[in-house]
Amino acid sequence: MRKIELFSKNEKSRGFYDVANQLNDLTGKEWVFSTKSVIPKGFPPSFQLKLRNKHGGQKPPELCESLIRTFTKEGDLVLDPFCGVGGTLIGCHLSKRTGVGIELNKDWVDIYYNLCELESLKPLEIIHGDSRDILKKFILEKRKYFDFILTDIPYWKMDEVDKSKGTYKKVGEPSMGVYSEKSKLSRFSSDSKQLRGRKEDWEMLIGDVFSECYKLLKPGSYCAVFIGNMYNNGQYFLLNADIARILSQIGFVLKGEIIWYDVNKKLHLYGINYSWIPSIVHQFIMIFRKERIVHLNKEEKENIRFKNLKRIKDEKTS
Ligand SMILES: C[S@@+](CC[C@H](N)C(=O)[O-])C[C@H]1O[C@@H](n2cnc3c(N)ncnc32)[C@H](O)[C@@H]1O
Repeated sequence: MRKIELFSKNEKSRGFYDVANQLNDLTGKEWVFSTKSVIPKGFPPSFQLKLRNKHGGQKPPELCESLIRTFTKEGDLVLDPFCGVGGTLIGCHLSKRTGVGIELNKDWVDIYYNLCELESLKPLEIIHGDSRDILKKFILEKRKYFDFILTDIPYWKMDEVDKSKGTYKKVGEPSMGVYSEKSKLSRFSSDSKQLRGRKEDWEMLIGDVFSECYKLLKPGSYCAVFIGNMYNNGQYFLLNADIARILSQIGFVLKGEIIWYDVNKKLHLYGINYSWIPSIVHQFIMIFRKERIVHLNKEEKENIRFKNLKRIKDEKTS
C-alpha cells in the first residue's frame, strides 16, 4: 500500500497521501497547490491582531502555518531567529509543530506571552536576546537539529523610514499632512545593538545569523525568509537579491521565491504629479535548502514510511 486517501474533518477528500513522502504531510493535491509561486491573499484579523499590531511588521500566523505545513511534518522542530511577536510560533501552534523563537526586543516577547494567555495557548520556547549570541550557544549546547527555519528578517532600514500615509513629498523632503507619521516599524527594537542605517551592517547581521542557522539546520531541510524590497531616498533596493547572495555564500541553495500579494494592503499616495514611486503591496518568501551530502539509505526511507503510516493511523483513531 503506497497511496492512502485522506479526508478532512468535514469528510471532504483531501486527495491521496503517499506514505513515502519525505518532506511533509500533504496529499498530492495539496502539494501541487503548495508550489504556487504567488499567494494573492489577505488574512483575517486573528490571534489578538490589535495587540500584535503594536509591532507593525508582524506576519499572519495562518500564512506561517501553511508554509510550515509545506516544509515539515507534524511534530517537527521550527526555528525563527527574528521572531517578533510570534507569527511563526503561532503558525507552529496551528500546525502542531514545535517552535523556538529568538527576539531582541523584550516588548515583543511579552506580547507573545500575553497573546498566548488570551488565546489559551501553551507558549512555545521564546528567548529574549540577540540571535548572534543565542544561536552560538545552541551550537555549544549541541541542541537538536531544526527541521525548518521560517523567519521574517528586519528589512534593512525599513524601521527608520518615514511613512507618508495620505500625504506626499518630494525626494529628500519630509512628509507633509495630517496623516504623516514615523513608521510603526521604528518600534522594532529599542536595543542599541540593533543595526542603524548602514546597509553593510544589515548584511553583516544577516550573514552572521544565517551562518549559525546553517549549522543548526538538518541536512535536506528548508529555510524560508520573508523579505520586502524597498524604495528609499529615490532609489529601489532589491533586498531579496541581497538575501539570495548572502545565503548562497553561506552554503544554502536558492530553490525559488514565493510572492505574497497582500490584497488587503491599502494604497498610499507616493510622488503624485512628480515621479513614479511603487506602492509596494507584495513581499517575497525566499526558499532555500541545505542540501544533503549523503542521500537517505533504504533503512531511513523505511523508517519514514513507518512513521507516516503510524501518523495516519493515529489521526484516524483520534
Ligand atoms: C520583521 S520583524 C519579525 C516579525 C515577526 N514575523 C512577527 O510576526 O511578529 C524582525 C524582528 O527581528 C528582531 N531583531 C532584529 N535584530 C535581531 C537580533 N540580532 N536578534 C534577534 N532579533 C532581532 C526585531 O526586533 C524584529 O522584531
